[in-house]
Amino acid sequence: MFIKHETIEKNAFLLLVFTLLTIAVGGIVEVIPLFTIETTVEHVKGVRPYSPLESRGRDIYVREGCYVCHSQQVRALRDEVERYGHYSIAAESMFDHPFQWGSKRIGPDLARVGGKYSSDWHYAHLMNAQSVVPESLMPHYAFLAQTPLDTGDLVRRIKAQRMVGVPYTDDQVANAAADLKAQADPAADNAALLRRYPKAVTVPGDGRSVTELDALVAYLQVLGTMVNFADPANEKPRQ
Ligand code: HEC
Repeated sequence: MFIKHETIEKNAFLLLVFTLLTIAVGGIVEVIPLFTIETTVEHVKGVRPYSPLESRGRDIYVREGCYVCHSQQVRALRDEVERYGHYSIAAESMFDHPFQWGSKRIGPDLARVGGKYSSDWHYAHLMNAQSVVPESLMPHYAFLAQTPLDTGDLVRRIKAQRMVGVPYTDDQVANAAADLKAQADPAADNAALLRRYPKAVTVPGDGRSVTELDALVAYLQVLGTMVNFADPANEKPRQ
């Protein structure tokens, strides 16, 4: 065995061939599983692309660095499940580009915060966290309420997501602006919005212009609500 190895080491050509062979085998082992990635994440009922307002809210979330203090992944550990609810499943973040799992929890995990509080609570909390949680050290984001939401590139943003695999339909693209308006106006008829984006929460807004705060609250209110875990069909074994 070692004598044969010596032969290889002394022959530059043989050494090159075997080195390349070894690297090729290692490379194939790493690359092949990537071809099956489409089948690894199962599609679970209820998971849908974000509505235009939620999606813009998500942009604000990323821009403001909320992930620096908040994770969005409930681990499959008993204490986490008891505190936050059902552990996160892969399908819930399959349309997130990039995902917001995070690793830092200065504040609580937000993967299941949707529906936990009223939208009014979120407005008050984001404007001034200490007004509702006196001991909070979360920064104030009152300026978001004064910043009109930039919707100029809304359709382009949605099309960009479609390019990376988020299945927005032509209908959803064509109605993006209308859906965004409807979700930020409690007086609007939101039947079409709910047909395209079930469970979308209409935010109170102030009835005038749509602000970045409206978008952020719409996003927070949908987090973790898409999958109905009470439905036994969605009970997946732990991975
Ligand atoms: C400096 C760290 C920090 C940053 C940055 C931060 N938060 Fe927080 N957040 C906290 C802490 C600490 C709490 C727990 C106390 C409280 O409820 O205010 C919290 C609580 C929350 C809660 C309530 C969660 C619950 O289950 O009670 C929400 C919602 C929230 N943050 C959203 C956000 C959003 C959205 C952003 C970005 C705009 C953000 N946070 C940025 C620290 C932070």
